[in-house]
Amino acid sequence: MSTQQMRIRDFGFGMRLALTLLALTVLAGSGVSGYFMKIHHDGRDEVDGFTIDDIRAHYHGIQSRAPMLQALEDNHPADLEEASRTALIEWLKSDTLKDDYDNFDLGDMAPETIIADNCISCHSSDATGDDAYPSLSLRYFDEVMDVSVSRKVNPMNEKVMYQSLHAHSLGLASLTIVTVLLLAWTRLPRPLIGLIAFVTALGLLMDLGMWVGARYWEPGVYLIVAGGFMYQVGVVLSLLAVIADLWLPKFKPRDD
Ligand code: HEC
Repeated sequence: MSTQQMRIRDFGFGMRLALTLLALTVLAGSGVSGYFMKIHHDGRDEVDGFTIDDIRAHYHGIQSRAPMLQALEDNHPADLEEASRTALIEWLKSDTLKDDYDNFDLGDMAPETIIADNCISCHSSDATGDDAYPSLSLRYFDEVMDVSVSRKVNPMNEKVMYQSLHAHSLGLASLTIVTVLLLAWTRLPRPLIGLIAFVTALGLLMDLGMWVGARYWEPGVYLIVAGGFMYQVGVVLSLLAVIADLWLPKFKPRDD
């Protein structure tokens, strides 16, 4: 039994023109959404520039401990008096980092004073000696701040995420079904069609599926990025192939 394989190239002129315009619209739309991603997420991790940390902050949240807090809790420097250590740790955990740094009322327990008395001998650019560490200077306020700030960025609100996920999965999956069907009706070799369609579908599922997963499981963030990339590449390739196929001259029909 042989049925005539459907081909988008056989559509009439008006239909091919319409499909071309729609495909171009989707392509432009995904360019815009890439740009939107960048401006929407940039700075999400409280640091300038769009990096994977912005994606991590958005889907998983970020919690990073200040290096100074880490060092003090790891008993560094070993000979620091307990009271001073406790005072510094409490200060680092407080939300008055800036105000209390040189708070006069704290007397000997003011962070600036403790640091000057206990740290600067090793942590200043002109410190010398075997156990000095001049590359981390703690002499000035700004230098101290660089190692004192802990970051805590919450992932997007759970309800908002489920609403957005709902809209994205229905909208994108429908669009993708249409896209891969159009691709299937081009004259591209079938294995190639299958590969592009599969990568696109898997990418979408990975990206959207991991929105939920990455909240609890941090490496999921990488799957979101990888999935989103696979999906974008698949959609762009499919639509370019569709547009080309709509206008390339008809050649001898494929016999399958
Ligand atoms: C005797 C010298 C010495 C003193 C005193 C000292 N440090 Fe250090 N510190 C070092 C050295 C050396 C390193 C690097 C090697 C290491 O991590 O142990 C270091 C590492 C650190 C780090 C980690 C830097 C990083 O790369 O993450 C922090 C933070 C730090 N010190 C803070 C302090 C503070 C705060 C004090 C005072 C309360 C202090 N240090 C006192 C020698 C010193």
